Amino acid sequence: MATPPDHAAPVPYLDLAAQMRTIRKEIDVAVARTLDHCSFCLGPDVAQFEKDFARFCGAEYCVGFNSGTPALHVAMKLLNLGPGDEVITTPYTFVATSWAISYVGAKPVYVDIDDATLNLDPNLVERAITPRTRAVMPVHLYGHPFDVDPMRAICRKHNLPLVEDAAQAHGARYRGQVVGTFGAIACFSFYPGKNLGACGEGGGLVTGDAAFAARARALREHGSTQRYYHDEVGFNYRMEGIQGAVLGVKLRHLDTWIRERRRVAQRYHELLADTPLQLPREAHYAESAYHLYVVRHPGRDALKRHLEANRVGCALHYPVPLHLQKCYASLGGQPGDFSVAEKAARECLSLPIYPEMTDAQVQRVAEVVKDFYRT
Ligand SMILES: Cc1ncc(COP(=O)(O)O)c(C=O)c1O
Repeated sequence: MATPPDHAAPVPYLDLAAQMRTIRKEIDVAVARTLDHCSFCLGPDVAQFEKDFARFCGAEYCVGFNSGTPALHVAMKLLNLGPGDEVITTPYTFVATSWAISYVGAKPVYVDIDDATLNLDPNLVERAITPRTRAVMPVHLYGHPFDVDPMRAICRKHNLPLVEDAAQAHGARYRGQVVGTFGAIACFSFYPGKNLGACGEGGGLVTGDAAFAARARALREHGSTQRYYHDEVGFNYRMEGIQGAVLGVKLRHLDTWIRERRRVAQRYHELLADTPLQLPREAHYAESAYHLYVVRHPGRDALKRHLEANRVGCALHYPVPLHLQKCYASLGGQPGDFSVAEKAARECLSLPIYPEMTDAQVQRVAEVVKDFYRT
C-alpha cells in the first residue's frame, strides 16, 4: 500500500537533489566523457554548449565563462567603458550587475524600478541620461522580462548600447521571443540554483556581433588568441569542460523545466489569490521563466518567521537595494532616493519554486501562508 503524503513535511526553498535524481544518468555519461578526453578548461563540450545555447536564445554567438559576473565584466570591456563613464542600471538586483560597471572603473547610475514588475522603469531612464552615459543595463529580474521595446527606443534615440542582464531569465519570453538578443550583449549566469545551472559556477555572454564574440573569447583567455601572445590585458575567465558537458545535458530539459515552474506559479496564483499578499503578475508582453516566485507584503518579516517555524523554506531577493549598500556609499545614495525599490526590499519574500515541486508541496506552502493570516 502506498504511504499517504505527509502534508506537514518540510518544503525546502530549493531542491537541487530532486532535479539531479531525474537526470543523473545523463550527467554521469557526459561527465565521464569529459574525464575521458581530459578537456578540463574549455574544450569540445564547452564549444558544443556554446553553439546549443546560442541557438536556444536565437543568437549568433555564445561565449562560455566561469560565472555570470565575469561575463558581465567582459560585456563592459567590449563596450570600452572606463573611468568617467556612466551606465544606467537598476538598484534592485543582485549586486553583480553593478560589480561589472565598477570593475571597469565606470559609475552605476541608478534609476528606480516599476512597481508592477520590479524591473528598471523605462519611463524614468531618459531623464537620467547625461553626456557621460555610455550604456543602459536593465535586468530581467526573477525571470520576468523588462519592458524591452521602450528601453530599446530610448537606447536607439540616444545611440546607447543596451546590455541585458539575463542572469535569472534563461528562456523567459518578451512578446514571444526568448530573451538574450534584444541588446548588443546579454549575459547569463549558470550558478547551480539558476533555471539552467551548472554543477559549479558558469556564465555565458550572448551576442550577434562577431567582433564582440571574438574579443570576448580572447579576454576570457588572458587576452590571447594565440598561446603566449597577449593582445590586451585579459583574464582567466574560462568555463570548465565539465560544466560545459553538464550544461549541454541540462539545456535539453530547460523548456520542460520552465513549463513546470510556470505550473507551480499558476498554482500559487490560484491558491494564494484570496490572501492579502501581492502576487507576482506577468505583464501583457511577458512570459516569465519564474526563476523566483516573489510575493509582497508589509508584514513580510513576520510571515518569513512563520514560514520558517513551519519548515517552509523562503528567502529575500533583495533586502537592501544597491544604492544603500555599504560598498556603494561613495556614490552618495540616500534612503528615499528610489522609493519603489526600497519598498520592494522591505516587502519581498521568495517562496519555494522549482520544477520538481509537487502539487502537495505547493499546497502545503499555501496552507502555511493562509494559516499566518488566520492567526
Ligand atoms: C541578476 C544577476 N546578475 C548577475 C549575477 C552573477 O552571476 P554569477 O553568480 O554566475 O556570477 C547573478 C547571479 O546571481 C544575478 O542574479
